[in-house]
Amino acid sequence: MQKRVFSGVQPTGTPHLGNYLGAFRNWVPLQEEYETFYCIVDLHTLTLPWDPAALNQRIVEGAAALFAVGVDPSRSVVFRQSHAPQHAELAWILTCIGRMGELRRMIQFKEKSKGAAESIGAGLFTYPVLQAADVLLYQAHGVPVGEDQRQHIELMRDLAIRFNSAFGETFVVPEAYIPKAGARIMALDDPTDKMSKSSVRPNSVINLTDDAALVAKKIKSAVTDSGSEVVAGPEKPALTNLLTIFSLFDGATIPQLEERFAGSGYGDFKTALAEVVVEGLRPIRERYLELMGDPGELNRLLSEGAAAAVKVAEGTMVTVWERVGLGARPGA
Ligand code: AMP
Ligand code: TRP
Repeated sequence: MQKRVFSGVQPTGTPHLGNYLGAFRNWVPLQEEYETFYCIVDLHTLTLPWDPAALNQRIVEGAAALFAVGVDPSRSVVFRQSHAPQHAELAWILTCIGRMGELRRMIQFKEKSKGAAESIGAGLFTYPVLQAADVLLYQAHGVPVGEDQRQHIELMRDLAIRFNSAFGETFVVPEAYIPKAGARIMALDDPTDKMSKSSVRPNSVINLTDDAALVAKKIKSAVTDSGSEVVAGPEKPALTNLLTIFSLFDGATIPQLEERFAGSGYGDFKTALAEVVVEGLRPIRERYLELMGDPGELNRLLSEGAAAAVKVAEGTMVTVWERVGLGARPGA
């Protein structure tokens, strides 16, 4: 059987350069080798305050972004998490074998609940358990994600191993596929902070939908480090981030770029970087806008994806129901 890959993205806002370089871009070549499942994780979005009037639009945008970067609906199963009810069902079972202590250690929970430990929604606490259910349902071997998800993948491995040893071999224990470069793209205006959809600082993030002028403007205003040399290194976090972005679009290594820009100042380097990013994003942006012109078709593709996902997920649930002693699944 062909090995499987599963990954997910929250429909919380326009996908950005970090999502693209750290995750989506790597999802495309995996289609050659694996059976690929890519999920718009709408239930995860309910773990922080959301706007019900905007949610459906965000989901469709998320799907458009995936197809625009080259995820191919004829080769990948692309679907909405809420359209496969098995995700919430398995999440419940895994919640019952998960431990308070291990969930309390999750960095993402600590960061997102900061200052509101007692009033934050309980869903944010169990967020990584739902994420574990997402992957384990499909018996996926690989989970291509950015660096920020490493701890969540560790937890899903622990849950799979714990379940398997308590109830018998049921789940494949998945592995994180984290790229060597690009796994943590930093904010343009603060190289100590990751580029994030939740940022309220407009110049910190390049969105996949930004036009050429906006991309150029944001890159021009990006912070740089002291000194004037275009080099990467621990004392040059801003330049390291910009050189990483350049390298991922251009194909040249960072040492090659340092050589190419030896003697040029930050200004010339930024002009060249803006060009490379604009050209790299151009086809993605064009395809995205074209796809967004036909939301009916996007919804049709998502329904097809959901039907394929449910088939696999339900197969796993039949086994899970028996293993934990709930017996035959209703309708099975
Ligand atoms: P999210 O937007 O949080 O749903 O993330 C979707 C995917 O993008 C996940 O695999 C993240 O690890 C990845 N990702 C998000 N932000 C960044 C970033 N700044 N750099 C690299 N990867 C990222
Ligand atoms: N937590 C992930 C993020 O914020 C999104 C996600 C949900 C996910 N379920 C997943 C990623 C399953 C990989 C596999 O980026």
